[in-house]
Amino acid sequence: MTAHSFDAIILGAGAAGLFCAAQAGQRGRRVLLVDHADEPGKKILISGGGRCNFTNINAGPANYLSANPHFAKSAFSRYTAQDFIDLVDAHGIAWHEKTLGQLFCDGSAKQIVAMLMAECAKGSVTHWFSSPVDTVSHADGHFTLCSGGRTATAPRLVLATGGLSIPKLGATGLAYDLARQFGLKVVEPRPALVPLTLGGDEVLFRELSGVAAPVEARAGSGKGRALFREAALFTHRGLSGPAILQVSSYWRKGEPIAINFLPDSTPDWLLAAKREQPRTSLRKLLGGALPSRLADALCDQLGKMLQCDIALANCTDPVLRAVTARISDWQFHPNGSEGFAKAEVTVGGISTAELSSKDMESRRVPGLHAIGEAVDVTGWLGGYNFQWAWASGWAAGQSL
Ligand code: FDA
Repeated sequence: MTAHSFDAIILGAGAAGLFCAAQAGQRGRRVLLVDHADEPGKKILISGGGRCNFTNINAGPANYLSANPHFAKSAFSRYTAQDFIDLVDAHGIAWHEKTLGQLFCDGSAKQIVAMLMAECAKGSVTHWFSSPVDTVSHADGHFTLCSGGRTATAPRLVLATGGLSIPKLGATGLAYDLARQFGLKVVEPRPALVPLTLGGDEVLFRELSGVAAPVEARAGSGKGRALFREAALFTHRGLSGPAILQVSSYWRKGEPIAINFLPDSTPDWLLAAKREQPRTSLRKLLGGALPSRLADALCDQLGKMLQCDIALANCTDPVLRAVTARISDWQFHPNGSEGFAKAEVTVGGISTAELSSKDMESRRVPGLHAIGEAVDVTGWLGGYNFQWAWASGWAAGQSL
């Protein structure tokens, strides 16, 4: 069988692979883009509730988890959120900022995929979709791919098949398997930006399913400590909502997460309330500040410390201080997460120690690159993961 010859083969036509292919193609490289899915960018299509939160204007290395927090700096400085906004504008795609620097299409995520495909067409990128990766080998400075009965060779191979999250959208561990095949280390992949599940006594909180409240959520310890002020949502399995998804990326099995249910209150708010409204009760105060079902559930739990329906004037200051401390540092002990089936991203992946931060090329295997979610760089919720896909795809695309 004749092998098709290219300058670069890119495995994975998701955000990173499409963007990298377009860059390399437009630089005159003969690029083959391969995906087992029947269409490109399936995650882009469902992202941001169908409107694709395509970047975040605040994106910087501090918004990412990685064994090496400095690794992404070079790529982010060379391809910024503004660079991607300029591209979106050049394609006439209308967008808006929703909150916290998160940019969404006014119309549909389909526009982003169409834009990336148009950029690939501009670079004459060849694509093989519905094309499973059967084998990849490397000899005499060339990579050989066998895919769905066809063979291709190139001196450069880019791993852009993403992480393990949402297998039903086509996610597989191919990037990790190939990385290991070539001797590259992989940081243990874990589900991230994922709802957490509750069991034991905390199962009672599941009765609040559907209740949401703005909170401050914390997880992790030391350098891995994280704190997010966003909404938390109780679900029939446990905890979700942006604040929980954010801390889930830092959470490790066996560790607690802490929630401050009244993040805007001062440490002495309950003592002040006792002075100013001595006849009011804790239940009334919480009911005024939180959704009533949540206030009642907290009162049920706090009942062991004080009677929530009596006048504050009848409560001692030490007890009120203890109650305040509990409400601002409520510890949950998740018994797990909803796993890769529900995780928006994968934390961990191909070790950054194996790659050049300039062009994402392997230090061990010249010509082998890895980009996007397959690499051990994981962003917060809010457009950060796509910005990493664009920045890392651009960095590799410039060097192919
Ligand atoms: P991506 O997963 O996009 O692409 C990998 C490609 O490789 C896929 O096309 C897949 O079919 C292909 N592939 C996998 N295994 C293969 C195999 N064995 N053979 C051949 N091909 C294979 N981020 C963000 O910044 N803003 C947002 O709004 C959202 N929203 C969002 C919603 C949901 C529901 C999810 C699951 C995720 C998000 N994300 C997000 C995260 C974001 O989608 C993700 O980080 C990027 O798509 C990663 O881009 P990659 O190109 O690295 O992988």
